[in-house]
Amino acid sequence: MSSTIFKLEKVTRSFAAVEVLNPLTLDIPRGEFVAVVGPSGCGKTTLLNLLSGFIEPSSGEITRSGRMRMVYQQDGLFPWLTVTENISLGLRHLKDERELESQLKELTALIKLEGFENHYPHQLSGGMRQRVEIARALAGDTDVLLLDEPFSALDYLTRLRMRRELARMLRERPRTVVLVTHDIEEAAQLADRVIVFSERPAQVRCEWRLYEPRPRDLTHPEVVKAVHQILFELGLEKDSQLETAEWIAG
Ligand SMILES: Nc1ncnc2c1ncn2[C@@H]1O[C@H](COP(=O)(O)OP(=O)(O)O)[C@@H](O)[C@H]1O
Ligand SMILES: [Mg+2]
Repeated sequence: MSSTIFKLEKVTRSFAAVEVLNPLTLDIPRGEFVAVVGPSGCGKTTLLNLLSGFIEPSSGEITRSGRMRMVYQQDGLFPWLTVTENISLGLRHLKDERELESQLKELTALIKLEGFENHYPHQLSGGMRQRVEIARALAGDTDVLLLDEPFSALDYLTRLRMRRELARMLRERPRTVVLVTHDIEEAAQLADRVIVFSERPAQVRCEWRLYEPRPRDLTHPEVVKAVHQILFELGLEKDSQLETAEWIAG
């Protein structure tokens, strides 16, 4: 089994005359949780589409390995299917009826939707629907989760809750994750590595590593420092965190 899931070598992508990605070189090892942060329209979804193989680069090379599932920003559930039927779509490879039953039960418990198995998406809250999507993506033997702003349509408190849920689910079913978001806090709370993109055409502005195990509190010093430093790199904060801490202490 390869230890590198994605290897990008000077990858670019244009749409007609619009250049979306500057030459991008990037390695994502198996098991890493990478967050890609950047302004709207900079090329984040384009990157995920390149990773999934949905589109090919204009130049450069991508090596991919492993089975992938994608979770989108907008509702991706089928409105005419129940919770159980939607999750089952992620388990189509299972032929054994009993194995299917037991997986469905486990996944429904994982997203804490017992009792809602026969509900339709319109009978669920936004957070519940997004949990079903994640369960469907976690179902089966995928190695990689590609998440395209999966929580951005949710209210703030639900978003905070969903980050915890995702961290918990990943502890039980570890995956390589690429999370695209415009939310720096979300990235710092969840990722092992945060990659910050510039405006289109996207290029890497900076990278930040975090070591605290998930779930991480929003107010954990490592998260606060990462958010602060990234904002500083983007020119949106004037001081570095260290100086601020020293100023408070002094
Ligand atoms: N299929 C496409 N055809 C033409 N232009 C596209 C296509 N997909 C994306 N773009 C353009 O590429 C740029 C980046 O888009 P996208 O990757 O969706 O940004 P983000 O996800 O960061 O908001 C945008 O300017 C968008 O208009
Ligand atoms: Mg997008």
